[in-house]
Amino acid sequence: MSPRIRFLMCAPDHYDVDYVINPWMEGNIHKSSPDRAVEQWQKLHFVLKEHATVDLVAPQKGIPDMVFTANAGLVLGQQVVLSRFLHKERQGEEPYFKQWFEENGYTVNELPKDLPFEGAGDALLDREGRWLWAGYGFRSELDSHPYLAKWLDIEVVSLRLIDERFYHLDTCFCPLANGYLLYYPAAFDSYSNRMIEMRVAPEKRIAIAEADAVNFACNAVNVEDIVVMNQASDALKARLRDAGFQVIETPLNEFLKAGGAAKCLTLRVTEPVREEVHANVSVESRIIRLEGHLLDSGLINRALDLIIDTGGSFQVLNFNLGEQRQSTSAAEVKVSAPSHEVMEGILSLLIDLGAVDLPQDERDAILEPVLQDGVAPDDFYVSTIYPTEVRIHGEWVRVDNQRMDGAIAITQTPKGQKAECKILRDLLVGEQVITDVLGIRTIRKTESRELRNSQEFSFMSSGVSSERRVEIVVEQVAWELRKIRDAGGKVVVTAGPVVIHTGGGEHLARLIREGYVQSLLAGNAIAVHDMEQSIMGTSLGMDMKRGVAVRGGHRHHLKIINTIRRYGSIAKAVEAGVVKNGIMYECVTNNVPFVLAGSIRDDGPLPDTQMDLIKAQEEYAQQLKGTDMILMLSSMLHSIGVGNMTPSGVKMVCVDINPAVVTKLSDRGSIESVGVVTDVGLFLSLLIQQLDKLTSPYHAVVG
Ligand SMILES: NC(=O)c1ccc[n+]([C@@H]2O[C@H](COP(=O)([O-])OP(=O)(O)OC[C@H]3O[C@@H](n4cnc5c(N)ncnc54)[C@H](O)[C@@H]3O)[C@@H](O)[C@H]2O)c1
Repeated sequence: MSPRIRFLMCAPDHYDVDYVINPWMEGNIHKSSPDRAVEQWQKLHFVLKEHATVDLVAPQKGIPDMVFTANAGLVLGQQVVLSRFLHKERQGEEPYFKQWFEENGYTVNELPKDLPFEGAGDALLDREGRWLWAGYGFRSELDSHPYLAKWLDIEVVSLRLIDERFYHLDTCFCPLANGYLLYYPAAFDSYSNRMIEMRVAPEKRIAIAEADAVNFACNAVNVEDIVVMNQASDALKARLRDAGFQVIETPLNEFLKAGGAAKCLTLRVTEPVREEVHANVSVESRIIRLEGHLLDSGLINRALDLIIDTGGSFQVLNFNLGEQRQSTSAAEVKVSAPSHEVMEGILSLLIDLGAVDLPQDERDAILEPVLQDGVAPDDFYVSTIYPTEVRIHGEWVRVDNQRMDGAIAITQTPKGQKAECKILRDLLVGEQVITDVLGIRTIRKTESRELRNSQEFSFMSSGVSSERRVEIVVEQVAWELRKIRDAGGKVVVTAGPVVIHTGGGEHLARLIREGYVQSLLAGNAIAVHDMEQSIMGTSLGMDMKRGVAVRGGHRHHLKIINTIRRYGSIAKAVEAGVVKNGIMYECVTNNVPFVLAGSIRDDGPLPDTQMDLIKAQEEYAQQLKGTDMILMLSSMLHSIGVGNMTPSGVKMVCVDINPAVVTKLSDRGSIESVGVVTDVGLFLSLLIQQLDKLTSPYHAVVG
């Protein structure tokens, strides 16, 4: 027995499941047996007394969870950080625990009100005393961690809990003697798992499976080589034995009904201080400002959800609600993250939502030089589709060539600073690149409920349409195509060979002929299939009129490629009268530029197919300049390529039979994109019918 080690426990005289504040309590109200609870508690008490000293705090009537003394506070040396319970049901415990600590000579530190922290339930010392593991996500706030570091003068490693069954750190994490760690990895987010793996060597990590985790195997009390717990599988016991530990199982299922077991029922009140260890915490906080129709458009919810989902926490400092329906609201939110890396991730997403870092008038963007052509500094800010401004020498500069997945390069020109999105390979030594997330803001269109619900033409809420909505979307697209054509605007089409297989080729050809398309971005296949159909009436060997395979028809495909190669280009084959109709014919005869980007699966290729992919990307980007609308027709490859090059503000219609492709393309958070899950041939035929309606003289009378 080690006389130095002391625990605090509280007899279960008033223990019961009286309310539900965690998933374990659900369905268990008043279902625990008082007699069995007393018996189980006494057994645990007896076991611990064999190995340590156990102090008792007096139980209080009407405070059933006081039995879980782990949540009284966190002790290190003579310092205690008293718990501030999240749920009002447990807040009544605070004065009793405070009194006990004061009477026993501890210095009690109290957190600000409204900053929850639930003691040793959410903060566990490395058993060598090197640092403190601190949990957040359910009960304790991340913002409490800097206080722990300061008051206890120790390094704090923040870990985020993501499984509500394991709502306190000590339900899924148990540091053991000799640097071992017993834990359930699935209870933590990936960043936290990385933190754990960086600090605990693989041979010291005892990761348990769900079956042991739900028996609260991690909710264990470790006294030197003894590990006391509710229950462990044979495999876990063997693993612990191999690591030099003796497992003592003592049933605690009556307490499991309230979501606690051995560790929750105890608080270690002797924790030695290591003199050489000092305060250190990587938690960062920033204040951001969001403006717009924050409630109507759900923007504030999206921002707060995003902070939580990406591993941070928040506090809304101010919320000024716009009083009129049209007036906008403003919110100031304190964002906290466990590290600078996580903070950068959160802030770059918040910037996409239009948030600005405060105080914005004091922070310039951070620039770092390009040291190698084509390579950005490590911490470079990754550009998005949204119009962006960066603050340089106190001035906001608009970024040119907005696109996603680039870096923002800054160059000095005679007219001043120039900011431009560049893809990595185009960066040059001597340029400066924006790093970090300071001094960056995006300009978003104001979203409102009216806009989202509007039945007027609008490319609403980046929604993927159901079949019912296809016709409505087709009407909207037809109307927009008509408007753009009449205004001399620009529509770019990306299309895959499915357009031909589904019989949509003639419709797309008509759109080109009638001036609705100003540029075609595609690959080798659609051009080959289109000309095969034009010359031979088949597409990949299928008779397009009769829908049956033509004997030996697959050879048609290669014959066409060969023919066009003989003429040297598609245009020359058209001029020679070899290609007499179809998509490529219309492009050539109507001077509609097309770019065919090569791919590894291309047969041939056609002489026009650009097999140098960097050149193909540049030619695509060139064609996309000044585009008003992009119609993306059943080509995942080319449509995603185009999507990445396109700034927000360009209307995008993505048609694909696969909802996953449509979601990927239309879900850019941009209000101008719309996805249509349907057969592309059907879509094109409906679109032509609709355009006919719009141009028919009868339409004006009827409509
Ligand atoms: N023989 C060739 O040279 C040859 C043949 C095929 C593809 N390719 C090349 O391979 C690359 C990728 O080709 P891709 O763009 O066809 O393939 P892709 O896989 O990128 O996209 C095809 C898309 O069409 C969708 N689709 C399938 N049936 C549909 C329907 N009935 N209606 C609507 N959508 C439907 C699919 O869900 C998919 O997203 C291109 O560069 C292409 O030129 C070359």
